[in-house]
Amino acid sequence: GRSWTKIGDLDDSAAGRTVLIRGATQAIRPVSKKMAFVVLRQSMSTVQCVLVASADAGVSTQMVRFATALSKESIVDVEGVVSLPKEPLKATTQQVEIQVRKIYCINRAIPTLPINLEDAARSEAEFEKAEQAGEKLVRVGQDTRLNYRTIDLRTPANQAIFRIQCQVENKFREFLLSKDFVGIHTPKLISGSSEGGAAVFKLLYNGQPACLAQSPQLYKQMAICGGYERVFEVGPVFRAENSNTHRHLCEFVGLDAEMEIKEHYFEVCDIIDGLFVSIFKHLTENCKKELETINRQYPCEPLQYLEKTLKLTYEEGIQMLKEAGTEIEPMGDLNTESEKKLGRLVKEKYGTDFFILYRYPLGVRPFYTMPCYDNPAYTNSFDVFIRGEEIISGAQRIHTPELLAKRATECGIDASTISAYIESFSYGAPPHGGFGVGLERVVMLFCALNNIRKTSMFPRDPQRLVP
Ligand code: 4AD
Repeated sequence: GRSWTKIGDLDDSAAGRTVLIRGATQAIRPVSKKMAFVVLRQSMSTVQCVLVASADAGVSTQMVRFATALSKESIVDVEGVVSLPKEPLKATTQQVEIQVRKIYCINRAIPTLPINLEDAARSEAEFEKAEQAGEKLVRVGQDTRLNYRTIDLRTPANQAIFRIQCQVENKFREFLLSKDFVGIHTPKLISGSSEGGAAVFKLLYNGQPACLAQSPQLYKQMAICGGYERVFEVGPVFRAENSNTHRHLCEFVGLDAEMEIKEHYFEVCDIIDGLFVSIFKHLTENCKKELETINRQYPCEPLQYLEKTLKLTYEEGIQMLKEAGTEIEPMGDLNTESEKKLGRLVKEKYGTDFFILYRYPLGVRPFYTMPCYDNPAYTNSFDVFIRGEEIISGAQRIHTPELLAKRATECGIDASTISAYIESFSYGAPPHGGFGVGLERVVMLFCALNNIRKTSMFPRDPQRLVP
């Protein structure tokens, strides 16, 4: 095949060379019958192509007319010579131009798209500035973006967001593999709810009532019972959420891990500490371009974290909130608002956006959570926060069948529906614990985005099943 150049690779060093590129027509600017500019875009990069009618170059006025008649977002191949512009180019990422020799349209887009990409890529500050100057610019709403997601995904910020997501997922695997975890896959069609509660999608499995897995929880523990000391899974998680919030999806990507505990469940916290510090470092050091691109549309403060992750007890957290004037039920759960406030208080006091809160009250944790040995009103459990919002929950699990069955019943779960799971602990099961991370939440909060729909490529929420 012919040799293709990536638009993002075009720089001074290519000057004088003939290259072949493919891109989408982002902007088309006719200058005269004999001259036109076409900006081509390929993922996060853009380059200006110049058409000048001249017999020497083999460019006719018809070709110039053909180029100016192209619709925006059409897919185009260009063969041309790389040249250096006289002045710096403001509208493109690449600082070279292509003197077009040949141009082919591979597939035309319709003349008027339902979203204007220029508007979709603007920051809030740009809209405000334009408004003050009396200009009328149209904001592209979240629903419109999601209805036409294939167009919306082309904005520079969106191109960066899912590259960041991929890096987080990849680092998660890489780090856990380096700590001797084994990647597994557990079934998503299961017979009963895995987290309790009403938030399950029910279905019929060959006529038998079944549901979509709310987490790999029971099966990742059974893998530990099956002799795997350390396991992880990256897979879909289904929650029949009926609330519309900025941070709940009906389907999200779960990053789960489960491991034997030798002496203390803080061994699980240590894995989280090493894992997330390595993810944060990787993103800040190796994804600068992506983060800058996201920041241009959605400005944010860089995440602050400590080399050794801060751990606070739930009681300390409650105490901090009380001292700051928040009324709080000491054995109840923290609501979204209190969590956010605690995030701010912790940042003021300890200088970190990332911390672990541990030793939660028994009443607010799932049935499989191990009660504290010294005080069974509390549990060997924890949540992890970024910028005051939960990204992880985890715990030591109950590994004796009697206590497990008792706790299931106390939590209103019919133990007979999970008997195979409970029995697994009768055949010899080591102490163990683990955690579950929401991938979309990590990206949303690392980048300080205001809505989880921005970090899910095709989000599923209570209102949305298409596209
Ligand atoms: O807190 P959750 O429900 O915990 C579990 O599923 C446990 N089995 C984990 C464990 O190993 N103990 O979910 C874990 C994480 C949350 O911290 C959150 O980041 C994310 O999954 N999450 C959601 N993300 C998007 N939409 C939703 N509806 C979510 N529900 C939970």
